[in-house]
Amino acid sequence: MKLLFVCLGNICRSPAAENIMNHLAAQSTLSNEIECDSAGTANYHSGNPPDRRMQAAAVKRNIPMIGSARQFTKSDFTNFDLILAMDRENYQNILALDPQGKYRGKVKMMCDFASQHPDKEVPDPYFGGAEGFDYVIDLLTDACGGLLSQLESTRTRSRSVS
Ligand code: 4NP
Repeated sequence: MKLLFVCLGNICRSPAAENIMNHLAAQSTLSNEIECDSAGTANYHSGNPPDRRMQAAAVKRNIPMIGSARQFTKSDFTNFDLILAMDRENYQNILALDPQGKYRGKVKMMCDFASQHPDKEVPDPYFGGAEGFDYVIDLLTDACGGLLSQLESTRTRSRSVS
């Protein structure tokens, strides 16, 4: 199962989601079956590592943050099984690259998998203070945990029928 997390710049929210998911998946029954990557709808920060403030917030939760920013491309629609947008603008920008709606079913909103937070979107922390980065880590930990549980139960069901 290949998962792609997408935000605007690919230096704050989506690399955090990618690294949190890798961290949670490693301790799960799907440790060898999930592959994660992340991308931005914009190319402003292509080649850059995750934002230092996001790295600092992740380290506080013992989550290492690695990666190098890249822009989302149309080939991602075929290279990934699931594409997770951080906010509605990301979602619309992704779908705009698929005018025929061929891959629409693969594109989901990340917050739909959260159960402990009421947010519909992962807020962009870039122009705010440190607390915004901490909040993004907590919200994404909730959403990644929900997504992982869903993938685990889908896997269990498909195993039991095969
Ligand atoms: P991200 O955050 O989309 O979560 O990576 C942002 C990073 C950079 C900018 C905006 C949001 N920017 O305007 O440069």
